[in-house]
Amino acid sequence: MSASEAARGPTSTGASVSALPGPGGPDLPLPRVHRGKVRELYDAGDGFLLMVASDRVSAFDVVLPQPIPRKGEVLTLLTAWWMKKLGGVVPHHLVSARPEEILERLPQLADVPRADWARRSLLVRRTRPLPIECVVRGYLAGSAWAEYRKSGTLAGETLPAGLTQSQKLPVPIFSPATKATEGHDENITFQEVCRRVGTARAERLRKLSHQIYAFGRDTASARGILLADTKFEFGELEGGELLLIDEVLTPDSSRYWPKEGWRPGGTPPSLDKQPIRDWLDALPDWDRSPPPPDLTPGVVDATTKRYREVFMRLTGVELSKYEPPSFDSPSRSPSGSRA
Ligand SMILES: Nc1ncnc2c1ncn2[C@@H]1O[C@H](COP(=O)(O)OP(=O)(O)O)[C@@H](O)[C@H]1O
Ligand SMILES: [Mg+2]
Repeated sequence: MSASEAARGPTSTGASVSALPGPGGPDLPLPRVHRGKVRELYDAGDGFLLMVASDRVSAFDVVLPQPIPRKGEVLTLLTAWWMKKLGGVVPHHLVSARPEEILERLPQLADVPRADWARRSLLVRRTRPLPIECVVRGYLAGSAWAEYRKSGTLAGETLPAGLTQSQKLPVPIFSPATKATEGHDENITFQEVCRRVGTARAERLRKLSHQIYAFGRDTASARGILLADTKFEFGELEGGELLLIDEVLTPDSSRYWPKEGWRPGGTPPSLDKQPIRDWLDALPDWDRSPPPPDLTPGVVDATTKRYREVFMRLTGVELSKYEPPSFDSPSRSPSGSRA
């Protein structure tokens, strides 16, 4: 059985994933405008997009052959949960996460199996995405730790000497990266962001990113979770209005550590695809280039559990019981802004 066939077979959870967009993804009866590592974007007409999160999982920038059941649902509904809370912090792209509202706008979905789109789709406003990954870091981990260890800097700025891995930074740091269409994102300096999008826009991106990070950090902290770092994307409407887009504060875009597992000087376990990374790291002969190995049912199950756990810990609601919130329709507010 090939890897992609395996991806469509039953998992050890007993749930058949045949209808879910595993590697490959479903074809919705809408014009597809983008296919990312995890999400598919469809044109929903009138300046809207349908952003559909698959159950695909990537590690070390390679999409793995097995889907992670419920992962797309977690990413989608957690983004909706955060965007509802962020309404007063930053204007964002989300119009609806509710299947019934989405169906009203896109009646052609009535004939599509609900598992292919419901609770994994967001109706959003179509923007022109800015080509910058707006990363904010509160702790020294991942590529930031690598840069610091090598040159004592983060995003090109010098940090105090003697910091250890996973240590809390004196203040959160905006550490942008390019949005690579192929391969790895590359960390860049703030000056480079200014060069790419203009100084005024760059300053606004940095300010908003800090505000969203602080909100996310404080919210997660109250639930016993540290937000080590996270990545935002922004896009512009025709008139130039800047919106927070994409997913936000999900385990795929953020490094979340349970407080009880954190201590400086090592790598704390994180609330995401950690079981996959650990398992891949322990494989003797995969060099991190495609094709990736097949995940075992045990690793798939552990990862599903991890995603459901972070959803539950943050929202306080079990995934299956969660009903997405409603948002103001942008057509009802005069400027289209919900800030
Ligand atoms: N409101 C929006 N308008 C336009 N593009 C968006 C919007 N929200 C998200 N996107 C884009 O949709 C894509 C999401 O798919 P994803 O699988 O995360 O892709 P990637 O592999 O590029 O991260 C990203 O390229 C993101 O920039
Ligand atoms: Mg993405």
